[in-house]
Amino acid sequence: MKNITPLQVAILVALATAMLVAGSAHALALAQSRVIMLSLITGISVLAMVYYAINYFIYRKIKLIYKTIRSTKTLGGGEEVYSMNEDPIGQVYDEVQQWSKEQTSKKEEADQLEKYRKEFLGNVSHELKTPIFNIQGYIHTLLDGAMEDPETNLNFLKKAARSADRMEALVKDLLTISELESGSVKMDWENFDLQELLQDVFDSVDHKARQRGIQIQVKAGCRAPFMVRADRKKIRQVLVNLLSNSIHYGNDHGLTQVGVYDMDRHFLIEISDNGLGIEAEHLPRLFERFYRVDKGRSRSEGGTGLGLAIVKHMLEVHGHTIHVRSSAGVGSTFGFTLDKANG
Ligand SMILES: Nc1ncnc2c1ncn2[C@@H]1O[C@H](COP(=O)(O)OP(=O)(O)OP(=O)(O)O)[C@@H](O)[C@H]1O
Ligand SMILES: [Mg+2]
Repeated sequence: MKNITPLQVAILVALATAMLVAGSAHALALAQSRVIMLSLITGISVLAMVYYAINYFIYRKIKLIYKTIRSTKTLGGGEEVYSMNEDPIGQVYDEVQQWSKEQTSKKEEADQLEKYRKEFLGNVSHELKTPIFNIQGYIHTLLDGAMEDPETNLNFLKKAARSADRMEALVKDLLTISELESGSVKMDWENFDLQELLQDVFDSVDHKARQRGIQIQVKAGCRAPFMVRADRKKIRQVLVNLLSNSIHYGNDHGLTQVGVYDMDRHFLIEISDNGLGIEAEHLPRLFERFYRVDKGRSRSEGGTGLGLAIVKHMLEVHGHTIHVRSSAGVGSTFGFTLDKANG
């Protein structure tokens, strides 16, 4: 009796009324044939009336409510037809439940995006604030008289220039990320030797590595030419970011090694250092924009926390991904794959 259909309701009411009429007619001592006739006519009329009433007042209203929901629903497909011989209220109840679940998950998704957007705006403003304040401070001090002192003025100008460089680097990184995220990034595919690119990148980070006494080398056994097909400029940026990190977060007199491994259709490239390492709890968020493990150290190294986010995006536009293994105090290994050059 739980999911009783409108037709069943009408039959039950009609039966009950017909029985009542039959009882009354019998009590009035009417002829048998008349009693049957009267209850039959009453039964059929009540059945028709109740069925019509339910259809008119309930089914049509349900359809109206359902249509309103359907217009904001993304299920698509044609209009649902409910049969009066089934349980239309039950069906609509299930649909509304499902619709409400969909709405909740959509709202959660929107809330999450909104949270990211706010966080991102906050981070950008915060990162820009420091260099702007510094530049402002140096310039005002110079204007307030420090300009007359030849030693101070040069020192302050150099500091202001460093802050301006930092600001430029941040804005460049943000533009790179925004271009990569907009999906409109242009790929400049070419075949090139990864080994040769590695030497080029080693040369460009050599100065920083020397300052920390860190040695950078290609692992023994990985020194052959490796022809890959990729966007050279973007892969150069990936290697610069990963090698810079291995220097920034490496120990003095440490070692950074690059390994290249043949994986059938791909090459696997791994960059390992024996530096600070990263605690496991940080690894899932490491590639997020502005995420830094040790905020103090990272900022003093001039880092903004965008380097790995850029690496991740640059590899994703190549159809590849980045992964990391790390133990705090032991070191880190960042790895990614690239397509082999065809032909
Ligand atoms: N090789 C590594 N060893 C230890 N920690 C690392 C290493 N690479 C990255 N990290 C950690 O991950 C964080 C994010 O790195 P990412 O390169 O994205 O930012 P950053 O180096 O702080 O700034 P940026 O690269 O934008 O100048 C760093 O702040 C650092 O804490
Ligand atoms: Mg970095």
